[in-house]
Amino acid sequence: MTQQLMSAQAPPAPPATGLPRHAVSLSSWRRADYERVWERAEWMLGSSTETLARTAPGALLGVLFYQNSTRTRLSFEVAARRIGGSSVGFCDVTTTRAGDFYQESLEDTVRVIGSYADILVLRHTDDDAAERAAAVSPVPVVSAGTGDREHPTQAMLDLWVLRSKLDSLTGVTVGYVGDPACRYARSLVHGLATFHAAGIVFLSPDGTRVPDDVRATLARARMSWRTAGSATELLRAVDAVTIIPFELSDFHESAVRSHTRSARLDQRFVFDAGLLSRTGTGVPLIHTGPRGPELPPETDDLPNVHYFEGVTKGVHLRAALLAELLAGHRRR
Ligand code: CP
Repeated sequence: MTQQLMSAQAPPAPPATGLPRHAVSLSSWRRADYERVWERAEWMLGSSTETLARTAPGALLGVLFYQNSTRTRLSFEVAARRIGGSSVGFCDVTTTRAGDFYQESLEDTVRVIGSYADILVLRHTDDDAAERAAAVSPVPVVSAGTGDREHPTQAMLDLWVLRSKLDSLTGVTVGYVGDPACRYARSLVHGLATFHAAGIVFLSPDGTRVPDDVRATLARARMSWRTAGSATELLRAVDAVTIIPFELSDFHESAVRSHTRSARLDQRFVFDAGLLSRTGTGVPLIHTGPRGPELPPETDDLPNVHYFEGVTKGVHLRAALLAELLAGHRRR
């Protein structure tokens, strides 16, 4: 969280309003819901550590990670501490009764930890895990990525960062680099549709396709879409680019696979410093992480590459979301 301490006269936090009870899918989120969270996240960016710690003193975040994570889990745990709370939970299911002889169900695990904590964050291998958790949880549930279904907080974060670069999401065309069938794509497309983006251009690994449900979301929103054949073509066609790891793991697996990554990524898919200095110099680029050869470290200092800015702001975004959901839960 920001170390730029503000004065004691920092503006008061925006009043909390009614978000959906859970954050498991962006399909039901309204424009006002995003703006609510982003307004609070902006406020948090400019607030002192002491002010932030008065946001939700004593709040307890329950962390249920059935699948690996660096950014999402740790930014949620840091966010809970920054707003005055703390966290309990697991990131290795084999240490719990859900991962041993008893194979305790997701529903029972959620009800147990939900009886200790004030809010839960869940990453899971099953597509429907967040919905199942929300159906039984006594407290709000946030999806931190479930199967191939959705990754709502990553999309909320990236749309916030993109909006700050473009001023508005309405009418923009976004480049999407990676597999269009993954959970992040689904959440991102819901968000772009909500903000009436003009369209999306996919640059995707050979053999992947835009799935029917994503096509249907785009059609309902009257958003155009097409595919590009190279990073150069993509950069010439869009206002901003969001990138995911070009080589994805299987989101239905919990553990590290003995997997040899491809030796070299086809140059058509690489956004290297040479390309970015020739083409698309004014096009903002973000990456969900973990970044791979599609966006090499040599690009980090380019003014339009915002990978680590997104990483940092992930704490503020998730802290704002926790604060809003906790406040809403207290009022119910
Ligand atoms: N972007 C993202 O989900 O990263 P982690 O897997 O490290 O949480």
